[in-house]
Amino acid sequence: MTEVAGTRAELAALLKSGGRVAFVPTMGALHEGHASLMRVARGQVGGEGRLVVSIFVNPLQFGAGEDLDRYPRTLEADLAIAEREGVDVVFAPGVDEVYPGGDPQVTVEPGPLAEILEGATRPGHFRGVLTVVAKLFGLVRPDVAVFGEKDYQQLALVRRMVADLCMGVEVVGAPTRREPDGLALSSRNRYLSEQERAVAATLSRALRAAQERVAYGVPAARWAAMRVLQAEPGLDLDYLALRSADLGELPDYPEPGTEGRILVAAKVGTTRLIDNMELVID
Ligand code: PAF
Repeated sequence: MTEVAGTRAELAALLKSGGRVAFVPTMGALHEGHASLMRVARGQVGGEGRLVVSIFVNPLQFGAGEDLDRYPRTLEADLAIAEREGVDVVFAPGVDEVYPGGDPQVTVEPGPLAEILEGATRPGHFRGVLTVVAKLFGLVRPDVAVFGEKDYQQLALVRRMVADLCMGVEVVGAPTRREPDGLALSSRNRYLSEQERAVAATLSRALRAAQERVAYGVPAARWAAMRVLQAEPGLDLDYLALRSADLGELPDYPEPGTEGRILVAAKVGTTRLIDNMELVID
C-alpha cells in the first residue's frame, strides 16, 4: 500500500525502516511517462527497496508570467497511479513545508549549462529546479534517483550538480514515452486543444526527420528538421539545437560514433512544449 507523507516529519517516519531508496521527483499531474520512471526506479532497488515519489509544484522554478497558477494539480488521480505502480511512499508537501522561511537564501547556482536552451528563455528556471532537487535529496536521502530524458537539459544539470557537489546519489535517465503519433508525453499536453494537439505532433516529426538525415552531416539534419517545423504555421519556434550528448558544441561533420542530441522548444497557442531525441552519427 502506498503511504502518503505531507510533512518532513511524516516522511522521515515512513523512511525509518531500511532498504535502498529509489526516488522519482515529480510535479504531479502524473501520466504514463511518470509511471515508466517509477518502473525504472523499482527496477533499480527491487522488491526489497523502497520507492519514493514526490509530488510538488515548485514555485521557485516558474518565472513571472509562466504557468504556476494553472499547472494541473490532480492529487487523487496521482495517488491512484502511485498505488497501481507499487510506490511505497508519496511525499506531497505544501509550499510552506518545503520553503518554511519563504524563498531560500541559499540556492544552487547551476552554472553555464543553465544559460543555454531552456535557460536562455527561462532565466532562473534551473536554479529553482536544482535547489528543490537538492532539498528533496536532503529529505528523501535516496540511493538512486530517476529523471526523464524528456527534460534532457534538466537531467544533464542534475547529473552535473550531483557530481560537482558530491551528493552521492546515482542519477538514472529514462527514455521519453510518446503518443502513437510521436508526441512526447507531458503534463502540459493537457493544456492543448484538439487542433493544437495535432500541431504539437510536428515537433517529434521534425526531430525524426533530423535523425534520418544526420548521416549527411549536421547541417543537413538541421535543415530537414527546420523544413518540417516551418511548414507548420501553428508553431512558434523558440529554438532548434543540435548538440553533443552533454550539450556541448557539435561539429558539422562529427567523427563516427559521436553521440549527439537534437532539442526543440516551441509554443503551440499559449503552451510551451519541449522535446529532444538522440542523434547517432556512424
Ligand atoms: O521535472 C520535473 O517535474 C521538475 O522539474 C522536478 C525535477 C520534479 C523539480 O521540481
